Amino acid sequence: MIAILDFGSQYTQLLARRVRELKCYCEIFPYSAPLDQIRKKSPSGIIFSGGPDSVAAEVNGKEMPLPHPGIFMLGVPILGICYGHQVLAKVLGGKVRRAGAREFGLSKLSLIRSAGLFDGIKPRLDVWMSHGDEVAALPFGFVALGSSENAPFAAIANPAKKLYGLQFHPEVTHTESGSMILKNFVFDVCGITADWHMKDWIGVACKEIQKEVGPYRVLVALSGGVDSAVVARLIHKAIGKQVLAVFVDTGLLKRGETERIRRLFGKLFEDSLMVIDAKGRFFTALKGIADPEEKRRVIGFLFARIFEEISASQKGLLFLAQGTLYPDVIESGKSVSGKAHIIKTHHNVGGLPKDLKMRLLEPVRNLFKDEVRELGLDLGFGDEVLRRHPFPGPGFAVRLIGEVTPDRVDVLRRADVVIEEEIRRAGFYDRIWQIFPVLLGIQTVGVMGDMRSYKEVLALRAVESLDGMTADWSKIPHELLATISRRIVNEVPEVSRVVYDITSKPPATIEWE
Ligand code: XMP
Repeated sequence: MIAILDFGSQYTQLLARRVRELKCYCEIFPYSAPLDQIRKKSPSGIIFSGGPDSVAAEVNGKEMPLPHPGIFMLGVPILGICYGHQVLAKVLGGKVRRAGAREFGLSKLSLIRSAGLFDGIKPRLDVWMSHGDEVAALPFGFVALGSSENAPFAAIANPAKKLYGLQFHPEVTHTESGSMILKNFVFDVCGITADWHMKDWIGVACKEIQKEVGPYRVLVALSGGVDSAVVARLIHKAIGKQVLAVFVDTGLLKRGETERIRRLFGKLFEDSLMVIDAKGRFFTALKGIADPEEKRRVIGFLFARIFEEISASQKGLLFLAQGTLYPDVIESGKSVSGKAHIIKTHHNVGGLPKDLKMRLLEPVRNLFKDEVRELGLDLGFGDEVLRRHPFPGPGFAVRLIGEVTPDRVDVLRRADVVIEEEIRRAGFYDRIWQIFPVLLGIQTVGVMGDMRSYKEVLALRAVESLDGMTADWSKIPHELLATISRRIVNEVPEVSRVVYDITSKPPATIEWE
């Protein structure tokens, strides 16, 4: 396995994912992890991540984050990236200073030698930089492998000791041959064989779940979506009868959701599947609220209260499990470094009250959506679950601008049925990440059967994406858009105009709220 020491980079999980893509198992440790904890795992290689700190300047007497010095005595190959590169240089006796010119974005790297790391890679390549410090003098035994315009030691190595440092980020797709560089490190330098699969992760995750949960019971909140379904099966695999699956009908869901949940999970959970009708409570709590973040907060709080009530009524039901994914974590401002901005309070991460009386269990919080789908396949789910379009925890509440009322949600639900029917009929469902309606809360003039109409505008949002972090609006055929528009205006009498959203993410997000 590869051990990644996290120094607080925005890209640490991406780095882990890149290593997993190579079919190599890896784990992330805080940079300050005790040596024994790492030694016990017998890593074949260690990667130091980037981070926001500086080894060149001691800021306000604050100590800079450094790994346990014994890490260098393990005799294991090490690859330092960005801040990790500077740590390597500094700790081993080199010099790091504030760079004369900072480099953010693409730079050209000119290779000097390969030392195994750059085998098969062309001599000049675009690399992604994000640094204000630079290595100014190499530690003993090190040579330069490559330089950029502003960083003479942009890639360095002590080949005899198998220590490598890169000022740039190979884990970011903008870096040309980045995956190849990581591949060379993992396979050629560390001597790892590509034999790890997502299903191997299941065993590790099950052990961790058993250890964390102990004799207690876990409430698994099913949402109807892929993530919570996969988490439910994973936890059931780990602790079987200690699970109570709960599905809350918020009234903000797609049509037929309760029946679907019973059909999909009734057999697995038998009498430990609880379906709760909380429509009334959600609509009451959302009365008069139009602000998107407030809606998300209210919904998150109400979910939490309901789960706490169930927990209080059952013996030993201490844990609450959710299908939180990595993009939810980072966009809710809950990254390891704690420095990421809050984009949205995803209800299953940031929307929960601080005083939640249950312990959170989030076994897939470090995975990306496509990895969860792969995991689901290994757990025996079919396309109906795995290929389902994501649906946000707060449901239709964040797909209508303004106040959430049962009537308005019903308009969306009916339009949603039409959209899904047509998109499936055209064979487009599996080709896009998501398609859904948004009710804009504004009315426009129309003419229907010689009469003036003055009704709501409905926006259609369809996007293509790999992991929900970035997305492009989908170029679905105009004829299909026309069919959807015609059917909605005919079959949903509250709507008289349909518009198509042609914004990518960024700058827009996928959901409108
Ligand atoms: P945004 O709107 O943030 O959406 O670009 C990215 C992806 O996440 C889904 N999403 C959510 N999923 N709880 C969830 O489980 C939420 O609160 C939530 N908000 C957005 C969204 O549908 C898209 O696929």
